[in-house]
Order: sequence, then structure tokens, then C-alpha cells
Amino acid sequence: MIKPIVLSTALVGAVAAGWTASAVQKGKAAGDATNGKQLFAQTCAPCHSATSKTANVGPGLQGLFKAKKMPATNRPVSVAVVKAQIQKGGGGMPAFGSKYDAQQLNDLIAYLRTL
Ligand code: HEC
Repeated sequence: MIKPIVLSTALVGAVAAGWTASAVQKGKAAGDATNGKQLFAQTCAPCHSATSKTANVGPGLQGLFKAKKMPATNRPVSVAVVKAQIQKGGGGMPAFGSKYDAQQLNDLIAYLRTL
């Protein structure tokens, strides 16, 4: 219950500082959103929309990191929860296990933050 508050405080701070979305990504976790977008297009897009919340096979992920709760499970949104979902799957989503290394996971997160 603490994490969403921390997350939104960080977000408000970033906006207040006048950061652009790309500056926020560069400042965070060193994820490359451009690479993350490619990974998403290759693997996630068949099941997830990036431009709406409308469900396909899985829920639409537009606004994922701007929301407080995960779209399918209502868990609090955090980087750890999203990484765990990718690695372990669940609820009909396949587990990607070690398909992505730490850098690629950060790239995917950086991209998901832009949605
Ligand atoms: C074969 C279809 C499929 C693929 C491919 C897939 N997902 Fe999913 N995903 C799902 C389904 C189905 C759910 C709903 C799970 C549930 O109801 O608990 C889901 C749920 C999610 C959620 C929300 C989890 C929650 O707790 O609400 C996220 C975030 C997510 N997927 C991210 C991804 C990412 C990132 C990728 C690519 C690496 C990906 N998914 C690939 C089917 C897929």
C-alpha cells in the first residue's frame, strides 16, 4: 500500500521538475524505451494493446504506470510486479522466464512507462 504513493509522488516530482518523458526514462533504471518498444511489438503486442485499455487476449496496457492498480489482478502497480508478471506469467499469460535479461526487462519497463 506504500508503493503506489511513492510512485505517484515520484511522478508528480518529475512533472514538477519539467522533465520530458524521455528524460524521466533516462534518469530511471537506464532502460531504453526504443528497444523496449521493439521487444513489445515482437512478443507482447499480439495479446496486449499499447494504445488502449481495451482487452485483447490480455488487458490493454495503455496508462499502465499511471494507474494505481494492475489491470487484470488489481495488485498495486510497481516495477517489481510488472517484471514478475513478465517472468512468471499467470492468469493465462505465458511465463517468459529468462527470455529477457535484466537490461531487456528494464527496456520493456521504460517503454511501458511511456504508454
Ligand atoms: C499469449 C498472450 C500474452 C502474451 C504474449 C503476453 N501476455 Fe501479458 N497477459 C496476458 C493475459 C491473458 C493477461 C491477464 C492475466 C490475468 O488475468 O491475471 C495478461 C496480463 C498482463 C499484465 C497485467 C497483469 C496484472 O497483474 O494485471 C501485464 C502488465 C502484462 N500482461 C504484460 C505483458 C508483457 C510486457 C508482455 C510481453 C513481454 C506480455 N504481457 C505478453 C496474455 C499475454
